[in-house]
Amino acid sequence: SILIIDFGSQVTQLIARRVREAGVYSEIAPFNSAEAAFERMKPKGVILSGGPASVTEEGAPDIPDAVLDSGVPLFGICYGQQALTKKLGGSVEGGETGEFGRAFLDVAEDCTLFSGLWKPNEKHQVWMSHGDKVTALAPGFSVVATSEGAPYAVIANEQKRYYGMQFHPEVVHTPDGGKLIANFVRHVCGCSGDWTMAEFKKTKIAEIREQVGDGKVICGLSGGVDSAVAAVLIHEAIGDQLTCVFVDHGLMRMGEADQVVSLFRGSYNIPLVHVEAETLFLGGLKGETDPEKKRKFIGKTFIDVFEEEAKKIGGAAFLAQGTLYPDVIESVSFTGGPSVTIKSHHNVGGLPERMNMELVEPLRELFKDEVRDLGRELGLPDVFVGRHPFPGPGLAIRIPGEVTRERCEILRKADAIYLEEIRNAGLYDAIWQAFAVLLPVKTVGVMGDGRTYDSVCGLRAVTSTDGMTADVYPFDAAFLTRVATRIVNEVKGINRVVYDYTSKPPGTIEWE
Ligand code: XMP
Repeated sequence: SILIIDFGSQVTQLIARRVREAGVYSEIAPFNSAEAAFERMKPKGVILSGGPASVTEEGAPDIPDAVLDSGVPLFGICYGQQALTKKLGGSVEGGETGEFGRAFLDVAEDCTLFSGLWKPNEKHQVWMSHGDKVTALAPGFSVVATSEGAPYAVIANEQKRYYGMQFHPEVVHTPDGGKLIANFVRHVCGCSGDWTMAEFKKTKIAEIREQVGDGKVICGLSGGVDSAVAAVLIHEAIGDQLTCVFVDHGLMRMGEADQVVSLFRGSYNIPLVHVEAETLFLGGLKGETDPEKKRKFIGKTFIDVFEEEAKKIGGAAFLAQGTLYPDVIESVSFTGGPSVTIKSHHNVGGLPERMNMELVEPLRELFKDEVRDLGRELGLPDVFVGRHPFPGPGLAIRIPGEVTRERCEILRKADAIYLEEIRNAGLYDAIWQAFAVLLPVKTVGVMGDGRTYDSVCGLRAVTSTDGMTADVYPFDAAFLTRVATRIVNEVKGINRVVYDYTSKPPGTIEWE
């Protein structure tokens, strides 16, 4: 296994993900409890994350002596490289100006990290993000790659199996980064690389049993993949100590609520309370047009309804949630600054404190595609597991302006046509998320001999790997024409269709 020591980088979880992708088990421990984790795990190697601190400051986070004394291979990334250099007798200085974003690396020498990948004299793209930099190597190290702004871009002490990089191999903007990390864990540390999602499942089941004991757990289902996978996993761990509550806010896509109910009651036989609360939600949304207020209302009402149901069930000390890593940190800032609230996600609510419940969040370190793998591992049907992500507040945030039952119905129909055409074209799995939005704008049209004055429907489709950044899906014109024609012909209330051509950033995936 590999231990990742977290010095507070916003992308530490991405390191864990890359290690998982290399087929190796890893755990993340904050720097101040890393020593205990190290003693317990006895890992074959340690990766030191980046972080916002500066090693030039008094009391900066440090690498535990026990880790260095053990002689295991070390791989320091950014802050991790600086901490390693300082600790071993090199020097680090604060840069006047940092270096951020895309940079090109000149490979100077062979290195185990580069094996099968990079050769001397080649140039490769990497993603830099640092203020401080190494200015003198620790004894035994040599420079194996440089960049214009970073003369110590990659350093290595092959004899001790210590490596350091000034850039971030864990982010997708370093295209070979995953392979560099795989080289470290497989070739340097000698991990076998046969760890799988099946193992993850076993580990998590054991963890859930240990956390919960014989306590009762309640899980809120949103109708989406995440909470469903969390629920099925927890049910596999503790059986009917789990009760699921499906707060049906009436803001789901066409046919989805029924699908959830039949999956849980029918296929899995998991105790399920189905609360039909459409009237309550739509009543509260009446007249509300502010996106954040809509989100907050839905989040709060969801919690209220859920709390009421939980009280009826009684005696549950644990609350399960399908929180994923991108929900934990929505705004990834590569500059080390604090992450800001772009949107208030409704599944990281205040319920646990209010009800004095402990959280069970078995998916907290996973990314969406990993959750899908886990879902398949748990036997969830492919159509369900492969479904595009759907936001907690549902269609309400795809109807800018006021949400009414009628507008939800209109949107559901348009959305269903769009998705049907995408499926028919065989494009569903190539797209991260595709959906229709219903705009609060009416335009003039002509149908037959008559004038129409109806709403505009926007279509969105993006590709992404984690929802944090996204590209527009480039449909061909014939496809979009077909969808637009069908929607205008078949959905009463829509007379114009437009396609959203904005990537994320600067746009977000959802419209609100
Ligand atoms: P944005 O719109 O912020 O969305 O680019 C990123 C991803 O998150 C989903 N999303 C949500 N998921 N609760 C969720 O569970 C929410 O409140 C929420 N808001 C957005 C969105 O669909 C996309 O996949």
